[in-house]
Amino acid sequence: MSSWPDLPDVVNRAFDVTRRAGYVSFCRNETGRLLATLASTRDGVMAEFGTGTGVGTAWLRSGVRGEKASIVTAELDPALASAASEIFADDPQVEVTAADWSTLRDRGPFSLLFLDAGQPGEVDVDTVADLVEDGGIVVLDDFLPSHGWPPMAGGRVDNLRQRWLTDERFTAVEVMVAPDAATIIATKR
Ligand SMILES: C[S@@+](CC[C@H](N)C(=O)[O-])C[C@H]1O[C@@H](n2cnc3c(N)ncnc32)[C@H](O)[C@@H]1O
Repeated sequence: MSSWPDLPDVVNRAFDVTRRAGYVSFCRNETGRLLATLASTRDGVMAEFGTGTGVGTAWLRSGVRGEKASIVTAELDPALASAASEIFADDPQVEVTAADWSTLRDRGPFSLLFLDAGQPGEVDVDTVADLVEDGGIVVLDDFLPSHGWPPMAGGRVDNLRQRWLTDERFTAVEVMVAPDAATIIATKR
C-alpha cells in the first residue's frame, strides 16, 4: 500500500507553527486538499474568516496559481494571528489580520470565502451573499455527513445546512471529505 502524498511546504511550515503554539483546531488534511483544489481555480481576493494558526490559509496558499490571486484572513485571537503571520512573513500574497472577520467586509467581493470562525452558523447566508462575487465559492467546514433529505444533525433537521443547500442565490452541495466529515461548497449564481 502506498503512503499519503507529501504535504506542500507551506502546510508543513503551518504545522510547525501550530505545534509550537499548542493549537489543535485546524482543518483536517482532506479539507485542506479541497481548499487547495478550489483555490487553484481562483484569481482575485480570497478570504478566510477564522485563521487559527494558519493551516487552512496554508492549504489555500498551496493551491494559488500565479500572482493574480491573494488571500486575506482574519483571526480574533491576537496570539494565534501572530503565530499565523510567521508563516507568511515573506509572502506578499497573504495577509493575516488580527481582527474580527467583519473588518474584512470592505475587502471583497471575494472569489472564494472559507467560513471557519467557530460555529458554521455564525455568519449567515444573507451576509455572505453580499461578500462574494458572482461565480465566487463559499466553503463551510465541520459538518458530520448527513444522508437523505432534509439534512439532519443530532437527530434534528439541520436548518443551517438546509438553508445553504436551498438558497436560490447559490448552487450548493454537501461533499464528504472523509467518512466522518463533510463540507458545504456553494457557488454564487
Ligand atoms: C476552527 S478555528 C480556524 C481553523 C483554521 N481556519 C484552519 O483551517 O486551520 C476557528 C478560529 O476562528 C477564530 N474566531 C472566532 N470568532 C472569530 C471572529 N468573529 N473573527 C475572526 N476569528 C474568529 C477563533 O479564535 C479560532 O481560532
